[in-house]
Parts: sequence; structure tokens; C-alpha cells
Amino acid sequence: MEKHQISTIEKSIEGLPIQEAIAALCDSFAGRVVFSTSFGQEDQVLSHLIFSHKLPVRVFTLDTGRLFEETYDVFAKTIDRYQVKIDVYYPAQSEVETLMRVQGPHSMYQSISQRKECCHIRKIEPLTRALANTDIWITGLRAGQSANRQELELLSFDEGFGVLKYNPLLNWSLEEVQAHLDEHTVPQNKLHQQGFVSIGCAPCTRAIQPGEDIRAGRWWWEESRKECGLHIGK
Ligand code: ADX
Ligand code: SF4
Repeated sequence: MEKHQISTIEKSIEGLPIQEAIAALCDSFAGRVVFSTSFGQEDQVLSHLIFSHKLPVRVFTLDTGRLFEETYDVFAKTIDRYQVKIDVYYPAQSEVETLMRVQGPHSMYQSISQRKECCHIRKIEPLTRALANTDIWITGLRAGQSANRQELELLSFDEGFGVLKYNPLLNWSLEEVQAHLDEHTVPQNKLHQQGFVSIGCAPCTRAIQPGEDIRAGRWWWEESRKECGLHIGK
């Protein structure tokens, strides 16, 4: 997608409340707008807006097979509260069976390449299927989540997945996210009360100490960029 096309789309939603911006995108790209949720705080803000305004967005999650039980609780409470369906994508059966048989359940701690292989099988390949035949991918990314994410834009074409990515919460602070969830009594992950901020797979997420970086609890044993590959396509 050319830069001028992106800026035309950007102008068409400029200044609109998020739910109206998403509605406008749904009009322009009918049936081709999706939202990926990991049931984190930011994602719950967007789920609330999408579901309570009944926006025609297909919502999906990637069940890596290694999620926390508490994350399934948020999933269950969300579909119950809004009376909606959320699509679930699983890793390819034979790939994950081979991964577990050959490398066992803790391969991610052995090397970065083994960790990336697990992320590829459990997240990237299912995400590729989830994003097939779509034009707009809505995410809950925020610039404040990490140094890498400060370069993010509201709308950017993801070359890797071939979709236009829309990050409506780009400039929200964590406090604003929290306030929105509290105001609307949106279901939240109980782990947030135990020092977990950014929550992914159980083997690769831990709580953080006060003052630590928001993403310090993700792949904490690695020095490098702390991204799994879902969001490096730009
Ligand atoms: S990650 O790349 O480190 O795992 P993060 O947890 O910060 O990503 O979440 C950023 C955004 O990626 C979320 O707002 C959501 O849109 C998407 N995302 C991350 N994990 C999942 C998942 N398991 N299922 C669906 N979407 C996800
Ligand atoms: Fe595997 Fe950890 Fe990546 Fe989840 S975050 S897919 S468990 S390496």
C-alpha cells in the first residue's frame, strides 16, 4: 500500500473517537477488519469498544497452548459479558507435536533460535492464517510499552502480513487504559493484581518489580528486543 493511500485513510478517521474510526474503517473495508486480542488491558479496552458498539469487526485470539489459566478466565468473562463469539487460532497440530517431542516443553530457555521457533509455531503461523483475506488489523499496541514501540504509527502497512495495521491506543498511557477499564467495569486478568503487566505465555512471562520496565517480565532471560515476531513486520 502506497504512503498516500495510508494518509488518505488516516485523514478519513482523524479526530474521531475510536469506535467511530473503527466503524468508518468497517464501512470502507467491509468484512475485512479484524482485531487480535490477547485479553491484556489494552485489548480489553478495544474489546469493550468493539463489542459494546456492536462493530462488525471479527475478533480473534491466538491460543498458543501455553497461556495462563487466568487468561482463559478473562476470555470466558468477556464472551459472557458481551454475549459474543471470539475466533480462536491454534498452532498446527503436527508442528507443535514435533516441537514438544523433539525439544520438550522448555526449549524456549535453551537459545534465542529455539525460543523463536516456538513463537513461530505457536503464534506467527496461526496469525498468518488469522490475517489471510483481511485488510485492516487492529491491535492494542501502545508507544509507551517499550522503546521499540515508540516508533509505531497509528496506521502502518505491515509488509510481513500484507495488512494495514491500526493501533488506536498508540498514544494512551497505562493509567488511561486502567481508568477506562475501571469506569466500564471491563473484565480484567487477575494476574494484574500480582505485579503482572504485559501478559503472554506462562513460561515466558513473570511479574515485574515496581519501577521495572513494563515489558521486563516478557522473555526476561533474554537481553535482546523482547519481541516475539508478531509486531516486527513494519
Ligand atoms: S507480543 O508481541 O509481545 O506478544 P503484546 O503482548 O505486547 O505482544 O500484545 C500486543 C498486541 O499483539 C495485542 O494488543 C494484540 O493485538 C496482539 N497479541 C499479542 N498476543 C496475542 C495473542 N495471543 N492473541 C491475539 N493477539 C495477540
Ligand atoms: Fe513459545 Fe514462549 Fe513464544 Fe509462547 S512466548 S510461543 S511459550 S516461546
